[in-house]
Amino acid sequence: MHLHHLASLAALASQAVPATAHVPHQSRDEGTCKKTTVAILGGGIAGITAAQALSNASVHDFAILEYRDTIGGRAWHRPFGKNPHTGKPYTIEMGANWVQGLGNPGGPQNPIWTLAQKYHLKTHYSNYDNVSTYNEDGYKDYSHLLTEYDDAYEIANMKAGEILRNNLQDQTAQSGMALAGWSPKKHDMEAQAVDWWKWDFEDNFTPLESSLVFGCAGDNLTSNTFSDHDNFVVDQRGFNTIIKGEAATFLKPNDPRLHLNTQITEISYSNDGVTIHNEDGSCVTAAYAICTFSLGVLQSDEVKFTPALPEWKQTAIQKFTMGTYTKIFMQFNETFWPTNTQYFLYADPGLRGWYPVFQSLSMPEFLPDSNILFVTVTNEFSWRAERQSDEKTKQEIMDVLRKMFPEKDIPEPTAFHYPRWSTEPWAHGSYSNWPPATTLEMHENLRANTDRLWFAGEATSPTYFGFLQGAWFEGRDAGRQIAAAMQDQCIHPNSAKLKECGSRRHYEVLHGTSPFADYSAVNGWTANSFLDSNSD
Ligand SMILES: Cc1cc2nc3c(=O)[nH]c(=O)nc-3n(C[C@H](O)[C@H](O)[C@H](O)COP(=O)(O)OP(=O)(O)OC[C@H]3O[C@@H](n4cnc5c(N)ncnc54)[C@H](O)[C@@H]3O)c2cc1C
Ligand SMILES: *[C@@H]1O[C@H](CO)[C@@H](O)[C@H](O)[C@H]1NC(C)=O
Ligand SMILES: *[C@@H]1O[C@H](CO)[C@@H](O)[C@H](O)[C@H]1NC(C)=O
Ligand SMILES: *[C@@H]1O[C@H](CO)[C@@H](O)[C@H](O)[C@H]1NC(C)=O
Ligand SMILES: *[C@@H]1O[C@H](CO)[C@@H](O)[C@H](O)[C@H]1NC(C)=O
Repeated sequence: MHLHHLASLAALASQAVPATAHVPHQSRDEGTCKKTTVAILGGGIAGITAAQALSNASVHDFAILEYRDTIGGRAWHRPFGKNPHTGKPYTIEMGANWVQGLGNPGGPQNPIWTLAQKYHLKTHYSNYDNVSTYNEDGYKDYSHLLTEYDDAYEIANMKAGEILRNNLQDQTAQSGMALAGWSPKKHDMEAQAVDWWKWDFEDNFTPLESSLVFGCAGDNLTSNTFSDHDNFVVDQRGFNTIIKGEAATFLKPNDPRLHLNTQITEISYSNDGVTIHNEDGSCVTAAYAICTFSLGVLQSDEVKFTPALPEWKQTAIQKFTMGTYTKIFMQFNETFWPTNTQYFLYADPGLRGWYPVFQSLSMPEFLPDSNILFVTVTNEFSWRAERQSDEKTKQEIMDVLRKMFPEKDIPEPTAFHYPRWSTEPWAHGSYSNWPPATTLEMHENLRANTDRLWFAGEATSPTYFGFLQGAWFEGRDAGRQIAAAMQDQCIHPNSAKLKECGSRRHYEVLHGTSPFADYSAVNGWTANSFLDSNSD
């Protein structure tokens, strides 16, 4: 409790808008829970979109319960540094930063891009091909490795499609890439840097830790369905302007249905309804609830479920993986790096993933004259940076920059900041990833409702997990499906001709593929091994 409180104060303190923490809600009778029809747990893009879908279906009796003092969730920004022209701080994005996959003329458009256009969000094309390569001795052109990777990826992706269509066994992305001809040697650190940039930079996890089939499918679904264009958001109102804008289409200012600063600690669910208990002692009863917490929150013990979630649900929650993606921002008094290139890839001689990609914002199309540079680390190196002081991290980065630009006299940064995503009690990481060797059925279990408690968010999207569009579609679908169930109707999900009515399918048991009889001496399996564990 004490820790939660401190952490929430820290989270609040880092917000642009000052807030009073844990203000008790409007007067309510002691011991009586506030009643609503649909309780929406979390005010990120999934929660806000679910509420909008309910409104659109004429369900207006809902309550949104949100931990923080603002909506937007992982679309989260803060002030940073100083604009040399205005003297005011810049806005930088701690979380989501790109609109990924925009859409082709005539083709379907990414709903996030639709909203970006609706709110005139300032974005610029992020050109991943505009990357210069470095090692510990400075600039070194190893860009041919980027092409080698891309050629192999095309083959691996085709194979992944075959595996999916023919219901064959999944592989790790690493084995898929090796079979396709990309197998970076352990000590070839330039190839390792390329491998990191092409895979971990998006997925947080290594190719060994990622599914070939669902990794490639996810990539295809965003880049083929929409487009392979990604735009980087530099809007000084923040990326979550689109979420706040949509919320304002159905919530009045100070709408009593929005409960900020509300930390949910327990969710009781049954076939009759859901009761939510909050840290401040308040509670809400609802006919239905939609839980939009991140996979990291579900994996933690932050929230208690009563009864405990069924084993099939817990297994799915623990099976999928939550990654951490950390942007470390620096402002300098000058731009000492090349001003015509968006990305700088660094191959460290000792460690794969050691401050590997720097990104310049000090360009006319981004934040001109800002002298802002940021470097991204993921997972192990994110967690390491979270454990150590800002000062230690800063000095490690300065060492790298001095290696990359040996001819420059590099000044200390005038501003420095990075978020600690895995320790935020409302996020516990950045976004989810699909591990190797699983099935769509396992994901259906992650997505399925348990009685009247529904789940939605980035991680429950089988097609767009990890992206804002995943959370948007999942929020919309949960809202629509609950409205339909309440109104005794079936709905037509967007992409399929199938009707969905009522509960989502789940599997109590997921079977393996090898018959038990195959575990025999003929296959080198010592029959006794079963007896050992059962009868000794
Ligand atoms: C560093 C980073 C970079 C990213 N980059 C991109 C990108 O470039 N492009 C892209 O499309 N996506 C990106 N994403 C992913 C994107 O941000 C998410 O997919 C999306 O924001 C998830 O929305 P959501 O509604 O599912 O979850 P969330 O935004 O996490 O919403 C859940 C809400 O629940 C609240 N909550 C949690 N616990 C409790 C509790 N106990 N009580 C009450 N409320 C609680 C949280 O405060 C939060 O507001 C990035 C994410 C991160 C972190
Ligand atoms: C709700 O309806 C509006 C107006 O038609 C539409 O723009 C919006 O996308 C809908 N929201 C959802 C979540 O379906
Ligand atoms: C990046 O793009 C700019 C502008 O088109 C170009 O001048 C520069 O050479 C490019 N850099 C790399 C590494 O591709
Ligand atoms: C991805 O798209 C490519 C090109 O259309 C296709 O060859 C491949 O099989 C697809 N992969 C998956 C996993 O769906
Ligand atoms: C930036 O600061 C360094 C010293 O920290 C100084 O030598 C340099 O001249 C400064 N650059 C500019 C453009 O002011």
